[in-house]
Amino acid sequence: MSPGELQSGGSQPGTSPNPFLTSKLQGFGSTIFAEMTALATRTNSINLGQGFPDYDGPVEVLDAAVDAIRSGQNQYPPGPGVLDLRMAISEHQQRFWNLSYDPTDEILVTAGATEALAGALLGLLETGDEVVVLEPMYDSYQACIALAGAVARPVTLHPPHYGFDPDELRRAITPKTRVVLVNSPHNPTGAVLDSEQLRCIADLAIERDLIVVSDEVYEHIVFDGNTHISIATLPGMRERTLVVSSGGKTFNTTGWKVGWACGPAELVAAVRAAKQFLTYVSSGPFQPAIAVGLRLPDSYFIELAADLQSKRDRLVSGLQSAGFDVFIPRGTYFVTVDIRRLRPDGDGYTFCRELPGLCGVVGIPNVVFYDRAHEQEGRHMVRFAFCKKTESIDSAVERLTAMSSRVGGIAG
Ligand SMILES: Cc1ncc(COP(=O)(O)O)c(C=O)c1O
Repeated sequence: MSPGELQSGGSQPGTSPNPFLTSKLQGFGSTIFAEMTALATRTNSINLGQGFPDYDGPVEVLDAAVDAIRSGQNQYPPGPGVLDLRMAISEHQQRFWNLSYDPTDEILVTAGATEALAGALLGLLETGDEVVVLEPMYDSYQACIALAGAVARPVTLHPPHYGFDPDELRRAITPKTRVVLVNSPHNPTGAVLDSEQLRCIADLAIERDLIVVSDEVYEHIVFDGNTHISIATLPGMRERTLVVSSGGKTFNTTGWKVGWACGPAELVAAVRAAKQFLTYVSSGPFQPAIAVGLRLPDSYFIELAADLQSKRDRLVSGLQSAGFDVFIPRGTYFVTVDIRRLRPDGDGYTFCRELPGLCGVVGIPNVVFYDRAHEQEGRHMVRFAFCKKTESIDSAVERLTAMSSRVGGIAG
């Protein structure tokens, strides 16, 4: 399969070809999040589509950004990132995951996790290399793999628990495989890979000498007493893993785009080689503010997960009473539902386009997170975000329940 044949994760199906666009990006269209957020604004709907909180982060972090702006930290920060932030990232990795990284050359600050992932893929891959990636997948993965001239080899996570089949994973790895791209806690399914699944990926990575890029942006959003495990902590893995994360999800500052990559110096240098020609640097005054966030006491991180767990429970029970079959997430701030009891043809894309008009709620059709070859797996699934005020969640549930009764669903 060539990159051009791939359906973009996150793109709109059926977008007509643009003669000016590089063949690497043909078929990717524009991201679904832009379309659905624009639809939410146009229809004055409750936006449970895009994953951003409708409330602010901790006041200490916000104040630190204001102080940084007022005290003149408004010019280009150093290429690898503000030293104090790199030190705070290092302390954070040690405190929470017992991973040790040297702030001088094992940590790189990026424009969100998105740029760390792009930098990793552009900096590490040769044309024709293959990347094994868990599917459904975050929308930028396939586009960046294609931009790097490489080929995505998706391994599908299956409901209800959204685990992978180890044999499928083994079969996906070929002599051309260079990178395994892991995301746990996982967007959009809310799956949290356990130590057995991570061990399985790690064993294969070691056996086949692969690099692992581990997207951990939801590292602090794990529920029901489970904990996040970074694959870099498994024996033999630190030396072959780039851990990617960001402050957006943890501190409700998705618009600040402060991310990072941590790993052995040579892997980080490869990311930096690409990153310096993408943004060079970004988010100057927000970098010291995220450093303040990373040094908040444990209670902040515990409270973040507890609050989102109660929002999850609220939305899950509301969606169940509106008639959806719900896959209860163990992490992240997303929940996936099967729409077929409300819409028997199972067309999640059309459902999401019609939903704002029907009841003023926006969700994201999971089909866009799958490779075209596997889109049947996600066609009838829709993702809703619960990083929203309880009033927003309650109104969305009321609207969905009323809609469900009107369309002859099973509510009530
Ligand atoms: C799995 C995953 N990775 C990366 C990102 C991007 O993170 P950032 O906003 O820090 O670029 C997101 C954002 O939604 C995500 O869900």
